[in-house]
Amino acid sequence: MSSFPQSRLRRLRHIEALRALVRETRVEVGDLIYPLFVVEGNKIKQEISSMPGICRYSPDLLPKEVEDIAKLGITAVILFGIPKKKDEVGSSAYHPKGVIQQAIRAIKKTTLDLLVVTDVCLCEYTSHGHCGFVVDGYVDNDKTLELLAKTALSHAEAGADIVAPSDMMDGRVRAIRQALDKNGFQNTPILAYAAKYASAFYGPFREAAESAPQFGDRRSYQMDPPNWREALREVEQDIAEGADIVMVKPALPYLDVIRKVRDTFNHPLAAYSVSGEYAMAKAAAQQGWLDEKGIVLEMLTAIKRAGADIIITYYAKEVAKWL
Ligand code: PBG
Repeated sequence: MSSFPQSRLRRLRHIEALRALVRETRVEVGDLIYPLFVVEGNKIKQEISSMPGICRYSPDLLPKEVEDIAKLGITAVILFGIPKKKDEVGSSAYHPKGVIQQAIRAIKKTTLDLLVVTDVCLCEYTSHGHCGFVVDGYVDNDKTLELLAKTALSHAEAGADIVAPSDMMDGRVRAIRQALDKNGFQNTPILAYAAKYASAFYGPFREAAESAPQFGDRRSYQMDPPNWREALREVEQDIAEGADIVMVKPALPYLDVIRKVRDTFNHPLAAYSVSGEYAMAKAAAQQGWLDEKGIVLEMLTAIKRAGADIIITYYAKEVAKWL
C-alpha cells in the first residue's frame, strides 16, 4: 500500500474534470418519481401550506401539469387521491370513477411517455384515517387485504403502469398479485413500500392528503424506527410474495436501512424522500439559512450512494431544472 508522499488523494480533486471522472454516484432526472396530489372536483389548484410549491390538483388540471413535468425530462409520477366522500371501508378508493381512477384516465389521454404509479392505500379514503378495515379500534390485517386488492385492480383497469401498496399489511403483495393476474394484468409491476416506518416525517403529507388517523396512530402496522433487521424481513417477505421493486421510506433518516437492503437483495430499490424531508429543506432555504440547491442535491446523492436506484421526491421538478 502506498502512502504519503507517493499517494496524494488530493491529486484527483484539484480540477472539476478530474473530480467528474472519478465520481462514484450520480443523480439523474431518470431516477426520480414526482408525487402528485389529486383532489376530487374541478378547476382546483391549492398549495399545501406546509409544503410550499406543492399543490393539489383536480383531475381536469392534470393534463397541463403532467405536460410540464414530462417536458422537464421526468419519466414517472406517483398519484395520491383526496376523495369527496370517506367512509368506514374507504369505498371511494376502489370506485371505478374514484378520484385516482379519473386522474389516471386524464393523464393517459395525453399520450405522454409518462409512467403512472399509484399509491395503493386506504387512509385517504376512510373516515377514521387508518390504512385498513378497523375492528374494535384495531386495523384487521386479513379483512384489509381484499380492499387493497380491489383498489390495486381498479387502478390497473383505469390504466396505471405500476401499483404501489403503502399500507404495511402482511400478505398484501400476494393478494394484489393474485387479483392482477386473475384479471389479465400479469404485466403490471408492484412497487412495494416494503420497509415503511411509523415516522413523524409524514406530518406535511397528512395535511396534503387529509389522511391523519382520527384515533391512535399507525404503530400497530408501520415499522418501529429503531429496527433494521426487521426491515430485511419485510423486504424478504414482499419479494417472496411477488414485489418487483422494493422501497424504504423515509429516505434520509434511514440511509443505513437502504444500504442493508441493497447489500442483501438484488431487486430494484426505491427510496421515498418524504414530505417532512422536503419541508425541512424548504423551510431552511426560505429562511436563507441553507443553500437549497446545494443541500437538496447532496441529500439525493446520499440516498443514491446508500444504494437506492429510484428516488420519490417532491423536489423532482426543481432538481430536473438544476441538473
Ligand atoms: C399512505 C402514505 C403516506 C405517505 C405515503 N403514502 C402517509 C402515511 O403513511 O401516514 C407519506 C408520504 C410523505 O410523507 O411524503 N399510507
